[in-house]
Formats: sequence, C-alpha cells, structure tokens
Amino acid sequence: MSQTGTQLERRITPTGRRQASTGAAVVCRGVTKTFGDGETQVHALRGVDLEAPYGEMSLLVGPSGCGKTTLLSVLAGILEPTDGSVTVLGQPLNELRGQELVRFRGQNIGFIFQQYNLLPALTAAENAAIPLLIQGWPRRKAVARAKELLDAVGVGARAHALPSQLSGGQQQRVAIARALVHEPRLIICDEPTSALDGDTGHVIMEIIRRVGVGPDRAVIVVTHDNRVFEFGDRIIHMNDGRIVRTETNGLGETKGSVDTTPVSETLIEEAKQSRGSLS
Ligand SMILES: Nc1ncnc2c1ncn2[C@@H]1O[C@H](COP(=O)(O)OP(=O)(O)OP(=O)(O)O)[C@@H](O)[C@H]1O
Ligand SMILES: [Mg+2]
Repeated sequence: MSQTGTQLERRITPTGRRQASTGAAVVCRGVTKTFGDGETQVHALRGVDLEAPYGEMSLLVGPSGCGKTTLLSVLAGILEPTDGSVTVLGQPLNELRGQELVRFRGQNIGFIFQQYNLLPALTAAENAAIPLLIQGWPRRKAVARAKELLDAVGVGARAHALPSQLSGGQQQRVAIARALVHEPRLIICDEPTSALDGDTGHVIMEIIRRVGVGPDRAVIVVTHDNRVFEFGDRIIHMNDGRIVRTETNGLGETKGSVDTTPVSETLIEEAKQSRGSLS
C-alpha cells in the first residue's frame, strides 16, 4: 500500500514534492456557452465568473436546466466555451490543444458524470482502473489499485461485474472510484449522491473530501441533495446561466489545516472504519 502511495505521489507532482499552491484551483471569467443556432439556440451559460479556491469543496446549486452540467463540462475541458476564459490549476485551458488537453485532463481532473458513463463491456474494476491505464500503469497493478478504491466505496464484492449487472447506486460508486483512483488535483462531481441512500452518501462525501480537498487541490460538486451541503466550504448559486450568489459555509477555519500526508495511505484505512454502513 505505501509503495502504491509513493508511486501516486510521484504522479501527482512530477518532482515528487508537494507544492503549496496559491490563488484558486479554477478561475472562470465571462464564460458563455450557446448551443445550436437560429430559433433552436440555447444560451446555457450567459457570462459566468467563478473562483473555486484550493483547499475547498465548492458546491454548485440551482434549478434544473440552469446550466450546471454545462459549466462543469466547460471547467473540465470537455466542452469548449463560446466565449470567456477558464484557468484550471494555473493552466489556461485555451492554450492546450488536442492531445495536450486530453493529457492534462487525464492527469489532473477526476470527473463523476451525472449519467455515470461507465463502459458497458468492462467490469467494475476495469472501469475504475481506466485513469491509471491511460497514465501507463501495468494492467494488473491498475486493476488491483482500482479494487482497493471499489472496496473503499463499498462495492469491492462486485469488482468483476459488468455495469449492466449493477444497481444504480453501485454503478454510481464505480464512477466515483474511477474519478478518485488517480488522486487528481481537481475532482468535479455532477450529483454524486443522487442514487445513494443517506448513510452511503455520507461516507462517499467523506471519501471525496478526504481525497479531493488539500492545499494544492480542490473539489467542485453539483448537487440537489441538501444532505451534501454540510460537506461544502462554499455554496455557489446558479440561475439561468449565471452565478447569482455565493455563500461560505463556516468551514473556512478547518480547510487551512488539511494535512499533507499522502491520501492513499490513509484513505483505505478510513474507509474500512466507515465500511460498517456500506454494503
Ligand atoms: N448538447 C446540448 N445541445 C443543446 N442544448 C443543450 C445541450 N446540453 C445542454 N443543453 C441545454 O442547456 C441548458 C442547460 O443544461 P444543463 O444540462 O447544463 O442543466 P443542469 O443545470 O445541469 O440541469 P439538471 O439539474 O437537470 O441536470 C438546458 O436548457 C439544456 O436543454
Ligand atoms: Mg445536470
């Protein structure tokens, strides 16, 4: 386990050394996104200015159709904005082209999709291993590490099942394991607890916080689930393609004291302790 942790550390910072980061993990300026043209045109984002600080979990809330998933996709470099700029972990996304953007995303961003997006022909463990395989990990090692994550989120017993053989909540947890397995510096989650019962959702949010919140990392979560609110450091309210209000959640004092020990060394241990409420 500690060997795996060391390897993960090396992959997170090429120098093998954690660097304190300043500023915000994500900065959006004047971001717009328009789909289609003519009569069918939809203005999904109408000028979004947003900062998601390092060391915080930012929650993004708002009514259905207000542009939350569109905004997450733009932040993750999956969708190109119509106008405006997005800087992620100090890197302006519009400076990256083709494979550069794919590589940047693969190394630095973990995305939990609203629809899970698991590959139907791969087992749960293979799905969860994808980010490590993309980074060049040997298959056996990647799948073994993925199984540890599946264990942590409570679906280790279903590691060899195909997505079609899993319940909705189990599929969601495989998608969560896939987003966390390479310990990305930015974790973006679209409704990560929508298919989970209260206890399981609580444990999952704790794991996402533990992996994703640190001095050089951040998490952004879209949620309708008010049980998730306690996990956020700030709540960003969206309406009709715009940010309308931001409130901080009183966790500001604790966020600065996040420890810098490798996540991988403690994650599984903590998950084991919580596992009583997962099955
Ligand atoms: N690919 C697309 N083509 C055309 N319109 C789109 C596309 N994707 C999203 N939209 C439209 O953009 C608007 C914002 O959609 P988005 O999925 O971002 O909303 P949301 O806030 O995530 O909603 P929900 O809470 O229901 O998931 C909606 O009006 C939607 O119909
Ligand atoms: Mg959505």
